[in-house]
Amino acid sequence: MSEPKLLLIEDDRRSAQSLERVLKAKGYAVSLAGRGDEGLERAKNETFDVVVTDLRMPGMGGLELVRLLHAAKPRLPIVLMTAFGTTETAIEATKHGAFEYLLKPFEMPELIEVVGRAVASARLMTEPVEMGGDKIDGQAIVGRSRPMQMVYKEIGRVAGTAATVLIRGETGTGKELVARAIYQHSERAAKPFIAVNCAAIPETLLESELFGHERGAFTGADQRRIGRFEQAHQGTLFLDEIGDMSAFTQAKLLRVLQDKVIQRVGGKENIPVDVRIIAATHRDLEKAIAEKQFREDLYYRLNSVVLRLPPLRERVEDIPDLAGYFSRKFSKELNLAASALQPEALAWLGEQPWPGNVRELENIIRQALLLSRGYPIARQQLEAVAAKSAEPASVAGGGASIEALIDQWLKEAKEGASIDVHAKAFEAMERVLFRHAIELAQGNQAKASRWLNVSRQTMREKLRAFGLKEEAPEEGRD
Ligand SMILES: Nc1ncnc2c1ncn2[C@@H]1O[C@H](COP(=O)(O)OP(=O)(O)OP(=O)(O)O)[C@@H](O)[C@H]1O
Ligand SMILES: [Mg+2]
Repeated sequence: MSEPKLLLIEDDRRSAQSLERVLKAKGYAVSLAGRGDEGLERAKNETFDVVVTDLRMPGMGGLELVRLLHAAKPRLPIVLMTAFGTTETAIEATKHGAFEYLLKPFEMPELIEVVGRAVASARLMTEPVEMGGDKIDGQAIVGRSRPMQMVYKEIGRVAGTAATVLIRGETGTGKELVARAIYQHSERAAKPFIAVNCAAIPETLLESELFGHERGAFTGADQRRIGRFEQAHQGTLFLDEIGDMSAFTQAKLLRVLQDKVIQRVGGKENIPVDVRIIAATHRDLEKAIAEKQFREDLYYRLNSVVLRLPPLRERVEDIPDLAGYFSRKFSKELNLAASALQPEALAWLGEQPWPGNVRELENIIRQALLLSRGYPIARQQLEAVAAKSAEPASVAGGGASIEALIDQWLKEAKEGASIDVHAKAFEAMERVLFRHAIELAQGNQAKASRWLNVSRQTMREKLRAFGLKEEAPEEGRD
């Protein structure tokens, strides 16, 4: 991926220079503007991935800049830097499309983190998702099987409507890709697309994340906050893992779907919002309803347009295309000679159960590619990678400390292995966390989930996933 282009609008020379130095070191191509009006012109006429601007500047203030720039380029993320005393203005700006604001003085890592999130969120909007193709730069939904043809047809059918769409499918089947494809083919394609992962945000914070809050709404709410619904106004909101939303937030969501208004937490004002919702979940919602975890009325609201993504094992004919696609894509990324797959390797791929679906296939190809060193990938290499990726599960459950594991993975990564250290480390950490919590709670899941501040449903899922709970054996997949 080429280096992201950043426009820094800041009139204070010295602060501009020190920010520029830090941002450049983090791989951004930085352009500088010393005035608000100049910054606006450049942002409108040139191509940037993110704009970082001061609030108080000669020529034009940050708030006006946000208004005009967001109207001209709604998909360009703007990060505001604001001094104490002007926070209200900065908050106002988030209502008009600013991605986020930073309160001065801020630490550089904070800036880097926010700018990184802004660029990632912009890429979701601007990086085209091609359906049925296999272009390796950009994003493609690969697969020509009949079930996938049906999916493309459905995407085409629902994209142009304003309908709420629910995307269902097992983990790793491409729900997020499909959400982006729908957005990009919709009438709102030029407006913002904002993604919220409901499972990644603690229940107590999700409500405020979505709907915002007024100052003093709860302990710690020392500033007003504009929620994602308001930020996504006229655009699209992607509610990922909607099955993990608490019953209370579900009720609030239902109300938005019905009345098209929101109330901030602790607020009374009805704020009209015009937002198209795309939701996704891998959960069995019918079961969740039976267990009183998911509201039936919300389910019926969401259920009018449903897109079901087939698991990989039901479309094995796509595996050669997918494997070829990933192998070309990662060869390019890792600067390796493009590797094909040997026929026995392809045959082996076709026989696997793929509980992790396309994501799992993607990971295996990536790792096998490193072993193959430019020669066609062999069956043994795939088997070796598959055996290895099954391993940490047992290791972390037993003796090895997380630190030892992290050290080992980092060493492998340093030596060139393409392993997802971040994901693996978090999984290992989570495993320990849940094991300790459930042990301390002597098996009482309600207690343990309260301590961790996760839903009961999440608790159950994790315990099951980490094998910490006796369960009826899963049905065999092969
Ligand atoms: N048909 C496909 N063609 C190419 N890549 C795909 C396809 N489906 C999924 N992927 C890739 O697999 C990975 C997982 O896809 P995605 O994140 O969309 O899955 P998901 O259904 O949202 O999974 P989860 O339920 O775990 O969130 C991503 O890297 C994505 O790019
Ligand atoms: Mg997903």
